[in-house]
Amino acid sequence: MEVTPRPKLFDFHGVSMTRMFTDNWDNVQNFKARPDDIVIATYPKAGTTWISYILDLLYFGHMGPDRQTSLPIHERVPFLELYVPPMLIGAEMVEKLPTTPRLIKTHLPVQFIPKSFWEQGSRIIYVARNAKDNAVSFYHFNRMNYAQPEAGEWSTFLQDFMEGKRVFGSWYDHVNSWWEKKQSYSNLHYMFYEDLIEDCGQEIDRLCSFLGLSPSAEEKERIITSVAFDSMKQNKMTNYTTVPVMNQEVSPFMRKGKVGDWKNHFTVAQNEQFDEDYKKKMKNPDLKFRFEI
Ligand code: A3P
Repeated sequence: MEVTPRPKLFDFHGVSMTRMFTDNWDNVQNFKARPDDIVIATYPKAGTTWISYILDLLYFGHMGPDRQTSLPIHERVPFLELYVPPMLIGAEMVEKLPTTPRLIKTHLPVQFIPKSFWEQGSRIIYVARNAKDNAVSFYHFNRMNYAQPEAGEWSTFLQDFMEGKRVFGSWYDHVNSWWEKKQSYSNLHYMFYEDLIEDCGQEIDRLCSFLGLSPSAEEKERIITSVAFDSMKQNKMTNYTTVPVMNQEVSPFMRKGKVGDWKNHFTVAQNEQFDEDYKKKMKNPDLKFRFEI
């Protein structure tokens, strides 16, 4: 389904946003969190769906075939700030979840997170992905998703990305301010897409120790198999083929799932300019990303 015109970006308290993520603002800000809520926070295209499915299987993998074959991931893990009435109102979808803990997706920068989550001490899992692959993935996502602003040419998109002029604002501010939050909020687990690619089992172990879960060895193996890229790409519950605004012929949602695909997109000049700018914006030596593994 083609949606025209595509949404426009505008400045929202210093962050580029589209209305579909701000129109329900008061309800989102006043959202009532619970202590056992689990929030999955990411900049778009950092591996949100992957970690969502891992968490869903850890908590609800035992729930039988119906859930596994008929409930898409975006219904299992509602997108808090999404507002496409009357069907897709993220905050209401969370409230209607029949299962606990509630798994809640958000792309909000840390300063926009409803305060109730901090007050309740809800656990938050943040996934970050290296800026270059993140930008490439976001570019293709903007091409295929009619609910996103036009992707435009890759060179323009990359410039926009560097200037924070894409939905949810600056990647640099997002990853940095969430990293800083980790220093003062202990219920925040900060993960990297590249680590998940390198050793998914180890990342699941770390996640489980953060969450106080202890799946059996068989259960863990089953999860690792189910969340492998090819298996999620084939799975209609995780590949977003049920979502009409995405044209998977333009670019599949489960596109490549690799570290280093940026090398197929960046020219030498773009890479030099990007690195130069990156150094200025990424000053914290403790927050390190891997651009290849
Ligand atoms: P690519 O476009 O680079 O392929 P999000 O879920 O945050 O929108 O992120 C989507 C990105 O994560 C896409 O990246 C997608 O292919 C990748 N991804 C999703 N599931 C994955 C998996 N199981 N293994 C590796 N990458 C995965």
